Amino acid sequence: MKLFSIFGDPIAHSRSPLMHNSVFKALGVCACYSRTHLSDGSQLRDVFISKGLSGANVTVPHKESAYAQCDEVRGIAKEIQAVNTLVLEKGRLIGYNTDADGFMSAIQSFGPIRNALILGAGGTARALSIALTHGEITPTILNRSSGRLDFFHKEGIYAYCWDGFTAAEYDLIINTTSAGLSDNELPIPRPLLLELLSRAKGAIDVIYGKETPFLREIKVSGLPYKDGSDMLLEQGVLANHLFLHGEYPIDKIRPAMQHSFSL
Ligand SMILES: NC(=O)c1ccc[n+]([C@@H]2O[C@H](COP(=O)([O-])OP(=O)(O)OC[C@H]3O[C@@H](n4cnc5c(N)ncnc54)[C@H](OP(=O)(O)O)[C@@H]3O)[C@@H](O)[C@H]2O)c1
Repeated sequence: MKLFSIFGDPIAHSRSPLMHNSVFKALGVCACYSRTHLSDGSQLRDVFISKGLSGANVTVPHKESAYAQCDEVRGIAKEIQAVNTLVLEKGRLIGYNTDADGFMSAIQSFGPIRNALILGAGGTARALSIALTHGEITPTILNRSSGRLDFFHKEGIYAYCWDGFTAAEYDLIINTTSAGLSDNELPIPRPLLLELLSRAKGAIDVIYGKETPFLREIKVSGLPYKDGSDMLLEQGVLANHLFLHGEYPIDKIRPAMQHSFSL
């Protein structure tokens, strides 16, 4: 039996085991996907090997340390410098980032987008800003503090902290901060958010499974919106495709994984 897992801290809330095990069951693949709580990210590679895993997902806060521990990093993950999917290939640990392409699939339903404002400057903001740039959508970063803005400046991406930011017109407002995840906070001051929403075409919160204060404000504004469920699904579909080395088509994996959202 092939073994897979998700690494993170915290990890108890993760839907990934249900999502991937639903696919394995539907496709008749002899595999099992579990959760691994990992507080020290530097141990990731050793734990992966000692558990005899064939592949894994990596979530907050270990995506950057996973990147550093791979034998090879492929695709957009090289630019993002963060990895959310690991696959063992001939004894070598290969890293990918499926958050980026998963997000791009999730926003197709908003129609044509010219530019987007990303709230937050963490690992997810990095992945999404690079993916948007590849998709010819101009990203701008807005974060509460300046400490993490260097990465974006080096990539030539507009990046500001709250001080020194002037609201402009952005088609899509994206929340990648953890504000609202375990508190009742908005990701930016309310007057600024309302001004941005009044000029936007849509908004998305990458947090899933709960109505954040950000989502509540968007609902009131009447704009088209999404939470992070579609992104979660799409990054999972792409990861599963990599886990099974492309043996099963995406079109077979997606409905099986989608089914797990109704369980
Ligand atoms: N739907 C999906 O498939 C999916 C995929 C990936 C991630 N996510 C979600 O995305 C979120 C962020 O993940 P990440 O890896 O990017 O986290 P991260 O690297 O820890 O970054 C968190 C960001 O949020 C900001 N922040 C935290 N609390 C805030 C607050 N109260 N007000 C304003 N800003 C705040 C931080 O600002 P400072 O720099 O000032 O600290 C930082 O920019 C998590 O909730 C994660 O679950 C969802």
